[in-house]
Amino acid sequence: MTLPKFGKAFRSEFSFQPNYVPLNHGSYGTYPKALKPILRGYQEAAEEHPDRWLRYEQHLVLEKNLQLVGQMINADPKDLSFVPNASQAANNVLRSFPFKAGDKVLYYQTGYINVNKTLEFVQDHYGVELVRVDLQFPMEDDEIVDLTRQAIQHEQAKADEPKIVMAVIDALSSLPAVRLPFERLTKLVQANGILALVDGAHTMGHIELDMQAVDPDFFFANCHKWFFTPRGCCILYVPKRNQGYVHPTTITESYKYHTECSDHSSFALEQIPPTLDTSPYMCVEAAIKYRESLGGEKVINDYCHDLAVKGGALVADILGTCVLENAAKTVTTNMVNVQLPIRSTITKSDSDIVNTYLQKLIYEYNTMASPYKHNGTWWVRLCAQIYLDLDDFEIAGKALLAITNEMNKD
Ligand SMILES: Cc1ncc(COP(=O)(O)O)c(C=O)c1O
Repeated sequence: MTLPKFGKAFRSEFSFQPNYVPLNHGSYGTYPKALKPILRGYQEAAEEHPDRWLRYEQHLVLEKNLQLVGQMINADPKDLSFVPNASQAANNVLRSFPFKAGDKVLYYQTGYINVNKTLEFVQDHYGVELVRVDLQFPMEDDEIVDLTRQAIQHEQAKADEPKIVMAVIDALSSLPAVRLPFERLTKLVQANGILALVDGAHTMGHIELDMQAVDPDFFFANCHKWFFTPRGCCILYVPKRNQGYVHPTTITESYKYHTECSDHSSFALEQIPPTLDTSPYMCVEAAIKYRESLGGEKVINDYCHDLAVKGGALVADILGTCVLENAAKTVTTNMVNVQLPIRSTITKSDSDIVNTYLQKLIYEYNTMASPYKHNGTWWVRLCAQIYLDLDDFEIAGKALLAITNEMNKD
């Protein structure tokens, strides 16, 4: 079968309603129609003989898919498990790690809301102290590393106080969408005796990953965002040296207490979920094959990155504003941030502004991109994908301009 070229025509490979212009792939992802029979096939197998499938046969398929993920990201499959989504992966690590009251966790204000809220939870429930590092994008990678180093030095120099034990680092942050120097940050925190929990929610199918090279202490990546598996499918990577301390948020019969973080004897068993439709996890293999049929990761991501850069410039031109970018041009990936020309004297509340954009983009203009405020300035995140082209960015840019002009009149 010949596939259409990347761009608008490629939308027929996906299940979108006609005329919908989807510029928000980064939030929930979606998967090609070609994967539907694979997903349904596994669901059928479960219904045909639930006991045989759930007790025995599903595990073989899951294991095979974990091996394939392991090959993709250069990780031992025994260090991987599937979880439904990135929020749950963060919860598994943060809520089971044996923090002591007063232990400190370093994080950034630009971390994903669910992850930062989980940190608030461990602060409230376990007495963990949070050390916040404020990032004001656009920043150069060196600046981010320097700010982090200063925060660590400042905290660790305090005599008679518990130290920072963990740092939560975004690989690609959400709003703003920024590629952080997570490889360098991981090395920096580890060199200071701090465990690195890397939020790679946006990474699979977006940037190259090598767990052996980066060597994070904990890492997770959604497959349902950029990798084209059905929702929810996320991988959690925990090297054996830390597996003793990670338990799922939903405890099952395999739970075992470990006094040593390196006791990995029950990790795999504990990660087996209770009754759940695991068929999205089983679609990794099909997603890999589909992506290979398109030319592979580089071909896909070269198209998306180029479109994000050009699309962002076009939308900035329409809005008369700018793209959030640094001198080294490391900010924009397949997602691009463009400033919104909202007048500074506007009286609407921030949540009213966000809701107005969302409602109008979705229900009046049949498109979607994520508006947000970063350090006092309004921006919108637009996501490139193989089913989009520059015309789509133009449509979104014009919609954003019309909504902004209307709001600025109020
Ligand atoms: C950086 C980041 N981390 C975590 C998440 C949470 O992902 P999920 O909704 O799959 O839990 C998101 C979602 O957009 C994200 O952008």
